Parts: sequence; C-alpha cells; structure tokens
Amino acid sequence: MTKIVTQHFGNEDAKDIATYEKLGGYQNLRRALKMEPQAIVDEVIKANLCGRGGAGFPAGRKWSFIPKDAKTVYLVVNADEGEPGTFKDRWLMYWDPHRLIEGSIIAARAINSHCAYIYIRGELFEGARLLDDAIAQAYERGYLGKSVAGSGYAMDMYVHRGAGAYICGEETSLLNSLEGRRGWPRLKPPYPAIKGLFGEPTVVNNVETLMNVPTIVERGGDWFAGLGVERDGGTRACALSGHVKNPGVHEVPVGTSLHDIIYEYGGGMLDDKKPLKGVIPGGTSFPVLTADEVDVPWCNAMMQNEKIKVVEVAPGEPLLWGGGRHLRSGPGSGAVIVMDSSTDMVAACARIIKFYAHESCGQCTPCREGSGWLARICDRVARGQGRAGDIELMAKIAKGINGNTICALGEATAWPMLAFLTKYREEFEARIRKAA
Ligand SMILES: Cc1cc2nc3c(=O)[nH]c(=O)nc-3n(C[C@H](O)[C@H](O)[C@H](O)COP(=O)(O)O)c2cc1C
Ligand code: SF4
Repeated sequence: MTKIVTQHFGNEDAKDIATYEKLGGYQNLRRALKMEPQAIVDEVIKANLCGRGGAGFPAGRKWSFIPKDAKTVYLVVNADEGEPGTFKDRWLMYWDPHRLIEGSIIAARAINSHCAYIYIRGELFEGARLLDDAIAQAYERGYLGKSVAGSGYAMDMYVHRGAGAYICGEETSLLNSLEGRRGWPRLKPPYPAIKGLFGEPTVVNNVETLMNVPTIVERGGDWFAGLGVERDGGTRACALSGHVKNPGVHEVPVGTSLHDIIYEYGGGMLDDKKPLKGVIPGGTSFPVLTADEVDVPWCNAMMQNEKIKVVEVAPGEPLLWGGGRHLRSGPGSGAVIVMDSSTDMVAACARIIKFYAHESCGQCTPCREGSGWLARICDRVARGQGRAGDIELMAKIAKGINGNTICALGEATAWPMLAFLTKYREEFEARIRKAA
C-alpha cells in the first residue's frame, strides 16, 4: 500500500529537520530547483493532482493560470480545515510539518512566488506551533531565506492564525482575512490567480494538495497519476469517523471503493448488530449516500456515478450541478462520516443545517435568510413539531439558495438539505405525521 502524505505518521522524530532530512526530506526541493518552473507545473498537470480542499480543481492547471509576467505572486496554504468531519490536515501538519514546507517551496518556485502564507485555523495551537518551529529550522538550514539551498532563489514563509470562522476557509474570504479585512468572500471573477492577495496573482492550495508535490517531483507525474483513476491521481487522506471500528486518517488510493473504506480500512460497523444506514462521503456539505449506494469509487467522478441516486429538489425533479450534470455526491474535503441504523437522520440533517446557518457570513440574501429558515424548519421537524408542507417548503428554499450566492457556502447548505430530503424522505414524513 503506497503511503505518500501519511508516510511519517507515528514517527515523532520526523517533525525534526535532521530526521526529516535523513528520511530523504528536502531532496526533492533540491531536484525541483534544478528544474525549470514550467517543468514542475507540467509534472503536476501530468500527475492529475486534484485539490484536496473540497472543490477538486486540478492543481497544475490552477498554477498555470498565473500570468507569466507577474512581478509579485503569492502562494497561500489553506490550513483552515473547518468542514465538519474533516480532520486530516490537522494530522498531516502534526506528523509531517516539513513535508508541507517542502511542498510549498516547490509549488512557490513553480509559480515564481517568493512568499508563502500558511493560513491555519485558530484552534490548531499545536499545528501552528509545530509549523513555526519547522519554518525556523528551515530558515536555519537554508531552505528558506535569501537563497534556497544555495540556488539564489529567495523564499519567505509565514504562519497566520485564523480566528475560527468557517467561512475563512473559502479562498477569497481567507485572502480578505489575511489582509486584515472582514472575512467575506469576494465575487469571482477575478479569480485569485489573476487578482488575489493584496491584488496580486495568488495560488491558494490545501495542505494535503501541497504535501503531494515533493513525491510528484521524485517519482514523476505519470507514476502519481497511475495510483488513482482517470483525471484524478494519487492517494487521498480519508478522515473517517462515525460508527466504524477503526476511525482516523487512512490514506487510500483515489478511487478506492467507499465500501472498502468503511469495511476494510474502517474495520466495519462499530456494532455489528447495527447495519449501515448512510454515509456522508466528503464533509457535511456533500450529499449523503444510502447504504446501497456505497459500492462506488471514492473520487471526484462520484459526481457523475450512476450507481448513486440523483439528488432531487422535488420527486422527479433532479438538481443540476455545474455544466448541467446531475448532482450525486463527491469526496469533497476528504471526510467520510458513517452512520448506523440507530442514527436519527432528521436530527442529523437539522444539526448540519444549523452549522451552515450559523456560519453564513450574511453577505447574500438567499444564503443569509434561506439558511436560517431551513435551520428553523428542519429543527422543528426534528423536534416533532413539523407541519404539513414543511418538506416541500424546505426543498423550495434550498433550491432558491443553490447557484444564487457569492460563494459555495450556499450550496454547502442546499446540497445536504436536498440530499437528506431525497434519500430519507419517509423519515421526515413520519416525523411530521406524528406531529399532526
Ligand atoms: C465555505 C467554504 C469553506 C472552505 N473551507 C476550506 C478549508 O477549510 N480548507 C480548504 O483547503 N479549502 C476550503 N474550501 C475550499 C477553498 O475555497 C479552495 O477551493 C481550496 O482551498 C483550494 O485548494 P485546493 O485546490 O488545493 O483544494 C472552502 C470552501 C468554501 C466554499
Ligand atoms: S453564500 Fe453565504 S457565506 Fe457565501 S458570501 Fe453569501 S452569505 Fe456569505
């Protein structure tokens, strides 16, 4: 089983630069410094490395959008990790901070940036401390500073701690926060690659995305691509939680079946007498799947996998997702949440929607008002005080949010709402009938 981003898990010494170097650390940076920046970008494109932060956008393509004549370019590492159920970046930074630094320097070199910020979730005190220590060591050893590993290439890196707002994980909101402004998402376009941090071209990448880069330089893009599936290469750190025997971070090849993630990596259901009822495959903003939908590869193509039921706005009315494709689900932020037969799906849905209503930044009306309405209606249904017509009302509100907001927090509210309604409709109906 190939381990890339979790290869140093369990080795407390790997946090120290001397041990990291003995394990081959910073050798790939030296290799990358001998390559043309464009050759690094080409290798990452070949690798089919898709972003691990949620949207799954190909990293190499994102890098290639940076204008070649840009004078100041920033790299921003998204270590905010706020999506409920997601905890892989925290572990990755804890066990292997130097891999993140090495991957980030290589990425910066590829886009001709001399400055990187790691924006880390405020609550991750230990992660921020470890990264500060690791960065100080990297400066001491000459991997950061005026001449990276003696190459003449200058590179600085800073850790910036957030203050616990989920919305600051959204890339443009994160950039505003980093600039000292209110953490509100920006309208796109312009995309950060054209106008990002302080108005300059910027690449924002997730922690795990960047931690794959040293290995791509070492083994080559083709090798990395071969570990995964078509257009989605490598392995993924899966943050597995809920009713399984073996929760935690499991690194799996992209395209491993969701069934195997639960029953092999996860050791199966926590209580063998309580079978699987549902699974959220990509953090709570991604549509829930029923027990008979888990025999599918865990990869971005899940979005189109026909074994998964289409999410509906109303019976027979499918929800279309980008480019007119039917919305099914996806591996999103890498969090797999397993729920057994004892789970109250209406209550689970209400809890999820309450989170998004709380975290809405309030900038756009459909999200600000709609998420609050949904949270209140879903909560009353869960508490046994639902009214006839509540299901249709919730579906209508969710549909009104979808596609009509500045950032994807709108979809992060609408998608789980519609998926729970589509797939566990009888449970909502029964709860409302009981109330009547
Ligand atoms: C509301 C919201 C919250 C987000 N939170 C995170 C986060 O905590 N970490 C992250 O990497 N990406 C998060 N994203 C995705 C980022 O906007 C962005 O797509 C990502 O950092 C790009 O990196 P990648 O291409 O390497 O995945 C969030 C998006 C939205 C809409
Ligand atoms: S969708 Fe919600 S979180 Fe995003 S900008 Fe609009 S109000 Fe803010």
